[in-house]
Amino acid sequence: SKLFVSEHPMIQSKMAMLRNKETGSKEFREIIGEVAMLLCYEATRDLPLTDIEVETPVAMAQCRTIDAKIAIVPILRAGIGMTDGLLNLMPNAKIGHIGLYRDPETLNPVEYYCKLPCDVEERIVFLTDPMLATGGTAEAAIGFLKDKGVKNIIMLCILAAPDGVKRIQEMHPDVDIYAAAYDGKLNDHGYIVPGLGDAGDRIFG
Ligand code: PRP
Repeated sequence: SKLFVSEHPMIQSKMAMLRNKETGSKEFREIIGEVAMLLCYEATRDLPLTDIEVETPVAMAQCRTIDAKIAIVPILRAGIGMTDGLLNLMPNAKIGHIGLYRDPETLNPVEYYCKLPCDVEERIVFLTDPMLATGGTAEAAIGFLKDKGVKNIIMLCILAAPDGVKRIQEMHPDVDIYAAAYDGKLNDHGYIVPGLGDAGDRIFG
């Protein structure tokens, strides 16, 4: 599986704002959406294209367009903060939700919700979660999607810690990861250090 970390100046600047503890919820939410949209632009680079004919005001033109069926699946809660950013670029995507929280003692993911589009197995799934820490949550979410027959999964996260990336690459080597930043160590609570804090709490308060 491929790890793509964006070096784009726009993304770097926005990451600096996200990491800043003085950035409040309103601004944090907006920036998460913007970074998600920029990452979506990167992650859609290899989508298949179909030839179409378009009539311009002057003549017929040969064009190409994205024809793939797409689903956006945020991991609750924090992944929801990225949904609108992706929808801006892919307004026809269907949306599914997977609810997982980390048990504070064991750090193991616990499922509490799963609702996916009925034809999800035919779709390219963009799985979103701002934080990839131990990778336990993403590993479980990818497992659910594969159990439903999904073949094509792309993971989008704002901040990916090396531990989490390693885990996904070992457990789900077919899943590519797109991240706005790749760094950090995990502390005893499974938080990324220096990281950006708890993305869910900063988005939802
Ligand atoms: C956070 C984050 C990821 C997960 C990452 O969610 O949004 O889902 O932890 O950790 P992992 O890679 O070690 O599994 P949290 O459990 O705080 O839930 P929330 O999104 O509802 O705040």
